[in-house]
Amino acid sequence: MKASQFDRHGKLKHLLSMEGLDQTWINKILDKAETFIGADGRVTGPKVLEGKTVANLFFEPSTRTRSTFELAAKKLGAWVINLDIDQSSAKKGESIKDTFLTMLAMQCDAIVVRHPDEGTAEYLSTLDDTRVVLNAGDGAHAHPTQALLDLLTIRRHKGNVQALTVAIVGDILHSRVARSQIQALETMGVKSLRLVAPDALMPTAPLSQRAQCFNNLRQGIEGADVIITLRLQHERMKESHINPAEYFKTFGITLEQLSYAHKDAIVMHPGPINREVEIASDVADSTQSLILKQVTYGLAVRMAVLSILLGEK
Ligand code: NCD
Repeated sequence: MKASQFDRHGKLKHLLSMEGLDQTWINKILDKAETFIGADGRVTGPKVLEGKTVANLFFEPSTRTRSTFELAAKKLGAWVINLDIDQSSAKKGESIKDTFLTMLAMQCDAIVVRHPDEGTAEYLSTLDDTRVVLNAGDGAHAHPTQALLDLLTIRRHKGNVQALTVAIVGDILHSRVARSQIQALETMGVKSLRLVAPDALMPTAPLSQRAQCFNNLRQGIEGADVIITLRLQHERMKESHINPAEYFKTFGITLEQLSYAHKDAIVMHPGPINREVEIASDVADSTQSLILKQVTYGLAVRMAVLSILLGEK
């Protein structure tokens, strides 16, 4: 990453990737997120963003990320614009730069952007010094709020990652989620990190010097405390590498495969899940699955980053 997400005093001014976010910053965000989660699990917060405007610019489909950013901003009292890209001037040839500058002219204080091109959020962050850019996913590069909500999920349900073995399973090659998770888990000092994928879906250049790579699911998840499984991201595959039914037979997380992990292992997935492709239905619906909890924590984490970036000036 070339543009910095920190100002010259070391304060976070954008959230573009997990690069450079140290333990102190990560803990600050996770601790803040905890303050929004009540004893009954309800997520609420004070109206610290009253008078601010947050714009969601999603150039790729999204259910969880876009809605939780919207809800997070609204719970903190901000106004929210959800630009419908398919009905926007992007369809008339407007460049992303001009769409972005137009949102700034509407006095948006923060722009949340998801885009298929890597580096889009970083590029937009260089165009204006006074507003906040949050990366909600850029190609296969980064998805920092997903990594943060995953850390919060692990912390709340399994404790400190320094005592845990975490296995990331699936289409690692095309996954911005995996890239951000690897950075986040390593920064937090994960005890052991395993990357598990068929050869065709494992990056040839290693994403981490410390992670162990496996092309066998059973070996990869044996004894693991946390299993994070990923969707086959067909939209980013140049040619169809993998047949879903074949993939399920060898890399799908089934109850039988899960029995090789630690007996209290948790199963996570950023969503959207494809049942009977990367995860069996009975695993997705089991008590070991935290997939829907991740969504709730995503709301709290996005409230935390919005309030730190916009509310604490
Ligand atoms: C992920 C994404 O879009 O990067 N989903 C999400 O944000 N919850 C993963 C995916 O699409 O498979």
